[in-house]
Amino acid sequence: MAARGGFTSKLGFILAAAGSAVGLGNIWKFPFEVGAGGGAAFVLMYLLFCFVLCFPVMVTEIAIGRKTERNPVGAFKALGFSNWRFLGLMGVLAGIIILSFYNVIAGWAFGYFFEMVRGNFSIGNEFSDFTANVVKVGSYALIFMAATGFIVMKGVSGGVERAARFLMPALIVMILALVVYAITLPNAIEGVKFYLIPDWSKITQASTIGGALRQAFFSLSLGMGALITYGSYVGKKDNIISSAAYITLTDVGIAFIAGLMMFPLVAFNTGGVIDTTQSGPGLIFVTLPGVFENIGPTWGIIIGAFFFLLLSFAALTSTVSLLEVPVSYVVDEFQVRRKRAVIIMSIIIFAIGVPSLLSYGISDFFSNKFALPFGGESANTTQFLDFAFKITEVMLLLGGALITVFAAYVWKKKNLAEEITSGYSSYNTSIVKPVLNFCISFLCPLMLTFLLIVVILDNFAGINLIEMIL
Ligand code: TRP
Repeated sequence: MAARGGFTSKLGFILAAAGSAVGLGNIWKFPFEVGAGGGAAFVLMYLLFCFVLCFPVMVTEIAIGRKTERNPVGAFKALGFSNWRFLGLMGVLAGIIILSFYNVIAGWAFGYFFEMVRGNFSIGNEFSDFTANVVKVGSYALIFMAATGFIVMKGVSGGVERAARFLMPALIVMILALVVYAITLPNAIEGVKFYLIPDWSKITQASTIGGALRQAFFSLSLGMGALITYGSYVGKKDNIISSAAYITLTDVGIAFIAGLMMFPLVAFNTGGVIDTTQSGPGLIFVTLPGVFENIGPTWGIIIGAFFFLLLSFAALTSTVSLLEVPVSYVVDEFQVRRKRAVIIMSIIIFAIGVPSLLSYGISDFFSNKFALPFGGESANTTQFLDFAFKITEVMLLLGGALITVFAAYVWKKKNLAEEITSGYSSYNTSIVKPVLNFCISFLCPLMLTFLLIVVILDNFAGINLIEMIL
């Protein structure tokens, strides 16, 4: 352990892993997915999936990481199953692709912070001009990548954990302050209703069921070994089950609160009508500046700047976790020094992100054409960035399904249980054990495989399998 470093305490790990989980996925993506998936029906499916399908995957990932003290590729080798290294490699690759486009969106959020500080509320109507200004958004993305690299370079306890210890509490305070503000605005109640009262007719939409699972995996940072990597820095005395529970609850809690903030703001802005067609990636970037403008010149600037700063903070602890995966892979497996690994990986990932950067306006090819032959036409995806996003969603679900199969049938449940017992001595006699075993042996492999098919058809062909079956 000493050579690789590690988290200084259980709390340090929980904050870092929750920092990985809480990000653009919670604050930017969750609200518009809720909008597209039909409101409260989506929220319910999402909660169900987080606890029933995702929690077991999270425990498995952390246990494999802590057992082997390795990156996702090295972990399978260390357990003696070199054939399964492909799963780790798929994870590393997914992490690289996710970070490549995630960093672009994080750059937008960061740029919006400065626009708000300047009081430029009209940026909401100029979102497409903003994203097409490639020098500007490229610079923001570059700064964001550099900040991420800087933190990862400092190592696990001195960089990752330290950043999370400061950023996570700050974020929680900021978001709670915004919720209190949002729900006291006129018409806020209409937003709350849309968010919390389910419309059951929406439950069979592929975007409700499949979308809720995609969102759950992405938001919890699962399926690509980010938590194998973070788990590899966890102490043997820490309780994996309770850590995973805290991480899940924090992530779900913050997503839930983000919705509670967003829909009242939207309702305030529209005079109470929630127009779900208006949602989509623009929900935050297009709608919110107008909301802040309506709040008034001084408070609008304060709240608006505050919001986009919060979003940038949330994104930063996530980009750090995404970069840590390929970096730890290169450090462990190729004996590259950490600093050099960070520099090389950051440059490669930034370069892979260029098509995403160009795909919101400046390049006709990447904005409108590239994705078409790959099902973009039928599934309504034209931007390269959105297409890359959809590819990685599939990779995460596949990774999640396979890792439960691996743990249950290849590595074997008794080895998993042995690892969990370290730090949780009564595990073998607790009710958690049979429930978890049932989930990883049957429920997760079957449900994740089925929903993987639902998501592939929805993402790339615009076909709703669930409606066809019912
Ligand atoms: N969970 C983060 C978010 O919600 C994004 C993220 C960070 C992620 N690390 C990940 C997603 C690993 C999938 C896998 O914004």
